[in-house]
Amino acid sequence: MKLEGKRILLVGASSDLAVSLNDMLYKSDNLVGLHYNINEKSLLKYGEGKKLKKFQKDLNSSSACFQLVDDFVSWSGGIDCLIQLSGDIKNPVYWENLTEEEWSYDLSVNLIMPFFLAQRAVLHMKNNGGRILLTSTASASHGGGSVSLAYGVAKAGIECMIKGMARDCAKHNILVNAIAPGFFLTKFHTEKIKRTQEQLQERINLIPLKRAGTTVEFAGTVMYLLSESASYITGQVIAISGGDWL
Ligand SMILES: NC(=O)c1ccc[n+]([C@@H]2O[C@H](COP(=O)([O-])OP(=O)(O)OC[C@H]3O[C@@H](n4cnc5c(N)ncnc54)[C@H](OP(=O)(O)O)[C@@H]3O)[C@@H](O)[C@H]2O)c1
Repeated sequence: MKLEGKRILLVGASSDLAVSLNDMLYKSDNLVGLHYNINEKSLLKYGEGKKLKKFQKDLNSSSACFQLVDDFVSWSGGIDCLIQLSGDIKNPVYWENLTEEEWSYDLSVNLIMPFFLAQRAVLHMKNNGGRILLTSTASASHGGGSVSLAYGVAKAGIECMIKGMARDCAKHNILVNAIAPGFFLTKFHTEKIKRTQEQLQERINLIPLKRAGTTVEFAGTVMYLLSESASYITGQVIAISGGDWL
């Protein structure tokens, strides 16, 4: 898998899922931008230098998304790969109790902001081609979860969006795909959705491989999808899920 000499922006590098991906990118021979919103401490171990820069941005508007991509491009001279891992749930309540504000927030963070990030990246990639990798979830094509319905709907939107973008961006040699993680034991489950140990184990029991995915497995798939080896893959949703939902 050849991945070197690229300008790579990782949005949501401060996520638990990105831990091994950050390490791999840090050690690689690429120009890397690591984005975070409030969790700066997760990136403290990575010193800034010629090959790495950190970018703070609350992605709450199209202009914030444009600014982040443009700031990265100003530093690196262009963008070859955009990876979007950012995601959130405002309030993990049963869908009958979801408010308009919660619904709008989940759609914004998980669908609308990724759209504007991708839209801006395409603008910069048109001359040289590139890769865009957005994040869905394995549950998106199965109706989402009962306490994460708006989130699931947003992620399903990602799956539609990457197909449309991939079709239109092929003429620019821009490949657009999505990753659909299954179950990874991150603070998303423990702190956001507040699953108990028993619930976590029940969730794991549903997975054919009977375990959560590891961040190394996640990072390996992402690195593959950005590499030359994946140059004929576009418009696809790649599940990293241990057979979840089969
Ligand atoms: N864990 C799983 O099993 C699983 C399964 C399917 C899909 N996913 C998806 O994988 C991605 C990472 O998940 P995770 O479990 O690692 O979650 P996480 O640790 O909670 O990370 C969430 C990421 O999103 C960023 N973010 C949230 N709101 C933001 C905002 N308004 N502006 C900018 N950035 C914002 C966070 O930045 P700060 O922390 O710096 O604020 C953080 O980098 C998400 O898209 C999630 O939906 C995860």
